[in-house]
Order: sequence, then structure tokens, then C-alpha cells
Amino acid sequence: MNITIANASHVKYAQVICDTIAESARVRGTGIAKRTPEYIIKRLLNGNAVIALDGDRFAGFCYIEVWGHQKYVANSGLIVHPDYRNQGLAKKIKKAIFDLSRKKFPDAKIFGITTGLAVMKMNYELGYRPVTFSELTDDPEFWKGCQTCKNFDILTRTERRMCLCTGMLYDPEDKSREKEKKIDKKSFERLRSIKETLFLKKKNG
Ligand SMILES: CC(C)(COP(=O)(O)OP(=O)(O)OC[C@H]1O[C@@H](n2cnc3c(N)ncnc32)[C@H](O)[C@@H]1OP(=O)(O)O)[C@@H](O)C(=O)NCCC(=O)NCCS
Repeated sequence: MNITIANASHVKYAQVICDTIAESARVRGTGIAKRTPEYIIKRLLNGNAVIALDGDRFAGFCYIEVWGHQKYVANSGLIVHPDYRNQGLAKKIKKAIFDLSRKKFPDAKIFGITTGLAVMKMNYELGYRPVTFSELTDDPEFWKGCQTCKNFDILTRTERRMCLCTGMLYDPEDKSREKEKKIDKKSFERLRSIKETLFLKKKNG
């Protein structure tokens, strides 16, 4: 498996990346921002993405987005092809994109929003902590990305204060995170279930 910073030679993988993201969202039944091949190509070309290849076969992808004049960066779009899951690949890609983010944007806070427990666990181990949305970027362009998610009405209804996703933030200034490295899985599952009951019930009923 080769995990590398993406470049022009990887443009041919844009379509399979989009298809894998869309298909995974469909199978999971959760909301996710939609990405077009053009959108992915931009990320493959700007030196801010990591791609994993098994020979010529696409295996995984993740990219960095810069917000609020480099005060914040997000590690977004993490995807591992179903053929390569549960072998520790996402963890390696996450670490690679995290290291790239720290190297290129050492002063930026790194954040993400996710409904996925796997992602929450990986983020936590890298030093991210759960935060309210008010601690994330207020750059409207970031939140625009949520418009294509099927839960966007919840985000609008709560005036962007909360949604089914949990916000997680790595603050380079915060040293307290060193103390605890393992996430309390049960708490996250409970939080997700509370949110789903609260928001989806209101939405459906
Ligand atoms: C989520 C995803 C990236 C995980 O990829 P992967 O290569 O199988 O993950 P890894 O093997 O590196 O596992 C990393 C950790 O997450 C855990 N994990 C993996 N899939 C999980 C799942 N569905 N639920 C809970 N935990 C999971 C693993 O047990 C591992 O934890 P550990 O280190 O404590 O053992 C992959 O399933 C995927 O692409 N899913 C669809 C897209 C998606 O959900 N992206 C996240 C956007 S919010």
C-alpha cells in the first residue's frame, strides 16, 4: 500500500473517489456532503490531499481545507474503499493528513465534523476533543458544504448551533489533551443516540 501526497498523476481517480463516497453514504444512510469530480480534482492538485493506492487500485483518500484565513483547517472527505476496510488504513491516512496539516499550517486549529464513531475515535487519539459548533470556524463557505447533506434542515433549524454531526477540534495550544488518549466509546454512542432521538423525531413528527 502506498500512501502519498496527491498530485496531477492522481486526477484519474477523482470519479472513483466520488462514487465511493456517495455509495458509502447511501449504505450508511447518514447525511454527508456531496462531492463532484471537479471538486475532488481541485483537492488532488493543490498539494493538500493524501491518497492511498494498492498498485493502480484506489484504496483511500482524505484532504485538507483551509478556512478563516488559515486560522482553521479541516481534514475532510475521509474514505476507504470497502475492499480495504478494517485493516488500519483509515488510521494511516488520518495520521498522514494530520501530519501534513501540522507541517503546512502549524498555527492552525484542526477540526472536523462527523457522525462516524470510527472517525471520532481516530480524531480523539490524534488529540482532537469534542467541541460545540461555536468553537469551529464561522467561515460561511465551510457551512455551505453542509447544504448537500440530508440533515441540513436540522442545522438551519438550530441556527448552526448543533446537528447530528459532532464537532471535534485539535488546538495546538492546548496541552491538556496529553492526559487522555482513549475515547469513551459509550459516551459517544449515547450522544449520537440522544441527538438522533431529539432531531429526527422532531423532523419526522
Ligand atoms: C470510516 C472508515 C474511513 C474506516 O476505515 P478503515 O480503514 O476500515 O478504518 P481502520 O481499519 O483504520 O480503523 C480505525 C479505527 O476505527 C474503528 N472502526 C472502523 N470502522 C468502524 C465502524 N464502522 N464503527 C466503529 N468503529 C470503527 C476500528 O476498530 C479502529 O479502531 P481501533 O484502532 O480502536 O481498533 C471507512 O469505513 C469508510 O470509508 N467509511 C465510509 C465513509 C465514512 O464514513 N467516512 C467518514 C466521514 S464522517
